[in-house]
Amino acid sequence: MKNIILCGFMGSGKSSVGRLLAERLSLSFFDTDSLIEERCGMSVAEIFEKRGEEYFRALETETVMSFLNTENNIISLGGGLAANRSNHSALKTAGFVVLLDCGIEETLLRIMGDKSRPLTAGGAKAVCERYNERRPIYEAVADLTVESDGAPADTAEKIVRLLEELKIL
Ligand code: S3P
Repeated sequence: MKNIILCGFMGSGKSSVGRLLAERLSLSFFDTDSLIEERCGMSVAEIFEKRGEEYFRALETETVMSFLNTENNIISLGGGLAANRSNHSALKTAGFVVLLDCGIEETLLRIMGDKSRPLTAGGAKAVCERYNERRPIYEAVADLTVESDGAPADTAEKIVRLLEELKIL
């Protein structure tokens, strides 16, 4: 089976839904933020602070490349990965891309005040602008878009149903 790649904005549920999907389908689960944190021995927030965002973005691209010749994985992406158009062709080759979106209001409720997310430091207005800017870019790479405003388990079930209908599973 092709890898299933979950993309979307911060707070859309990529990691929690991905973990559940992997359990449900007995597949391996990877989260690009966690892979980068393990590799660097630092949290994402520390990498941003000590090495800068550009360094982090380069590691994200390398991480996607490492999945190019693999299959049978569920991969949750950090929110910036699919927002970078230059990663799109690698993402398309690496798997079937599912966009999770819970809407801007739910997004703000889920992520504001979370110190582990460096990009929330600029406040709600900046987050909204980033959300609006990224939405069409995510759409451009997605093979399927799923609303994720409910519980992660419900979103995971919805994805399984849709993937079965599309004969991806
Ligand atoms: C980012 C999202 C974060 C993390 C980093 C940058 C972004 O991941 O990669 O803080 O640019 O949207 P999550 O989407 O898992 O929060």
